[in-house]
Amino acid sequence: MFVTSVTVRVPAKINLQLAVGPPRPDGYHGLVTVFHAVSLFDDVTVAIAEADSVTVTGEGAGLVPENGDNLALRAVRALRQAMARRAAGAPGPLGASAAVDAPGGAGGVAVTIAKRIPVAGGMAGGSADAAAALVACNELWGAGLSPQELCAVAGEVGSDAAFPLLGGTAVGRGRGEQLAPALVSPVDFHWVLAFADGHLSTPAVFRALDKQRARREVPEPELSNELMAALRAGDVENLGATLSNDLQEPALTLFPALRKTLDAGLEAGARGALVSGSGPTCYFLARDPAHATDLAVALSGAGVCRSVATAAGPVPGAWVVS
Ligand code: C5P
Repeated sequence: MFVTSVTVRVPAKINLQLAVGPPRPDGYHGLVTVFHAVSLFDDVTVAIAEADSVTVTGEGAGLVPENGDNLALRAVRALRQAMARRAAGAPGPLGASAAVDAPGGAGGVAVTIAKRIPVAGGMAGGSADAAAALVACNELWGAGLSPQELCAVAGEVGSDAAFPLLGGTAVGRGRGEQLAPALVSPVDFHWVLAFADGHLSTPAVFRALDKQRARREVPEPELSNELMAALRAGDVENLGATLSNDLQEPALTLFPALRKTLDAGLEAGARGALVSGSGPTCYFLARDPAHATDLAVALSGAGVCRSVATAAGPVPGAWVVS
């Protein structure tokens, strides 16, 4: 059957640990992070069209560029380039050995993004859309790239764009794009997400961190053994106690109202509370689904955020829904 459109569902992430090293010569920071995919999803549809276009609907749609800067369209272009390199047998992320016919990618694609993941919220929403566009075009064009090859292309698009392909719980190194699945207990964890009334720019938060550390020796980041042990044991109390994020202090400096959000969740009985990634979304760990609902109600009532949602994790990475 000739496929003319493909829809992919892709999860948001939170960082259970985000340890940031000193700035590198290329302007990025070396990281050790523990990504965790949660049940808050964007849906990305790609359809064959004469020229590339992107339309965004849903949560925060007005803030997402509907032009070539859109991360999903950047991913589409990166995939075309990777396919062209492969067809030419040229070296690149796919390697010279993978030369086969590239059957698709010549015409345009109309990308439609239905957003639920907050924009500029520290949950890698744009990266998730890029990852979903890669999976969708790989299917639409019958390109046949392996998950590893798609991860390599995603890493070119953004530091966080490879993880939504993998999903689950994974350790990220380098800029965050070098991934290894983490060994975790098969239990679900239950989270409450507090979406802020505002946004934070990731580069601005990294710059604020560098400023706060200006006169200090910054060690290379290290994976938290305590956090990994809590994940292996499925131990909610220890997981809550070992969540950490080096970007939290700079995010709080740039967005001081988040302190009240974190405090309100802890006062309401959250087992852990943290800014997600570069913020401003805050997340809270609950004991079970009923406790998550109680926390969500308490946070809503406290008036310390724009809206709240409950989510479970880990969930799988991007998958084709139709
Ligand atoms: O790779 P991505 O476009 O998602 O990164 C956005 C920005 O966040 C980068 O331009 C950089 O300023 C900052 N960043 C960083 N170190 C990382 C990841 C991102 O400094 N490991």
